[in-house]
Amino acid sequence: MKDKLIAIKDLKISFFHENGKIQVVRGFDLSMDSGEIVGILGESGSGKTVSATSILRLEDEAGSIDSGTVFYKDRNLIELTEKEYRKIRGNRISYVFQNASSALNPYKKIGLQLTEVLKNHQLPYSRTIVLDALKGVGIEEVHMVYDMYPFQLSGGQNQRIMIAQGIISKPDLLIADEPSSSIDASLRKTVLDLLKNINQKSGMAIILITHDFDVARYLCDRLIIMYGGLVMEEGTVNDIFEEPLHPYTRELIECASSLTRGDSPVYTLEGTAPTPFQFKEECPFFSRCKYRLPECTLEIPQIIELDNRKIRCVKHKKR
Ligand SMILES: Nc1ncnc2c1ncn2[C@@H]1O[C@H](COP(=O)(O)OP(=O)(O)OP(=O)(O)O)[C@@H](O)[C@H]1O
Ligand SMILES: [Mg+2]
Repeated sequence: MKDKLIAIKDLKISFFHENGKIQVVRGFDLSMDSGEIVGILGESGSGKTVSATSILRLEDEAGSIDSGTVFYKDRNLIELTEKEYRKIRGNRISYVFQNASSALNPYKKIGLQLTEVLKNHQLPYSRTIVLDALKGVGIEEVHMVYDMYPFQLSGGQNQRIMIAQGIISKPDLLIADEPSSSIDASLRKTVLDLLKNINQKSGMAIILITHDFDVARYLCDRLIIMYGGLVMEEGTVNDIFEEPLHPYTRELIECASSLTRGDSPVYTLEGTAPTPFQFKEECPFFSRCKYRLPECTLEIPQIIELDNRKIRCVKHKKR
């Protein structure tokens, strides 16, 4: 069988806190082919960033992977040495961080930062290549920006520069964490179109982390919905929007649709998501679920595969 571009299985990640170790990702699986665009959605704190950064092994020093495998083609990234891994990170797999301004080096000019990506990976580099990359993400006055520092630019400009930095090496996979969150609406579409374009032209796969269902629908082929450190549902964009199976997914889509329709008041999901300190061996969505059953608290429901989609809910048991 041909290797998947990325195959993550049963990933569990913990952090060390004052009071000991606490698991924040309790079950993350992802399998994707070249050229696919997969969206990861879910409320704040559900584990999107921590799960995705496992591909880059960038988890905080206080964090550790408890179990699971993270394959890139035929290599389990967890087993590579840092030296081996450096050849892949920022070259074959790039990451656009959620907080662009703090992810760029404040002491280096933009042009130098982009050139360094190419130099570090022994790729051809020139001022023209860097200027083209900046133009590609809709930056104006590129000759000036080339010689500027991140603090001299807006949050939106820095975010686009991070995207340029992520794609300048023409990676196989770009992980984009909220890439359009600090870009104004008019430019958002430009940036999303840019990602779509590169995906179509070069076959670069994309993992898009977002809170925005409209963005996910516009760009993605497949969606993963996370909650409480677990994948709750996975399916094609069409399946998820046409027939969301998990009550959590249904609620999220209802909230997003209500906002788009301009309802007054806007439909909201009551209650808050549990923090890792509140996790129990039960469905994490139990307390907020309209369809809850006593058996939802017996254990964490298993994730079940149903025709081209996955769901973690007691209502969908293995047949
Ligand atoms: N460095 C860290 N040390 C300790 N806990 C952490 C660390 N990074 C993340 N966490 C915890 O892990 C959980 C998942 O965090 P993560 O950043 O993946 O959430 P997220 O889904 O990306 O949320 P958001 O939408 O706000 O970006 C959270 O409870 C968070 O507090
Ligand atoms: Mg995040």
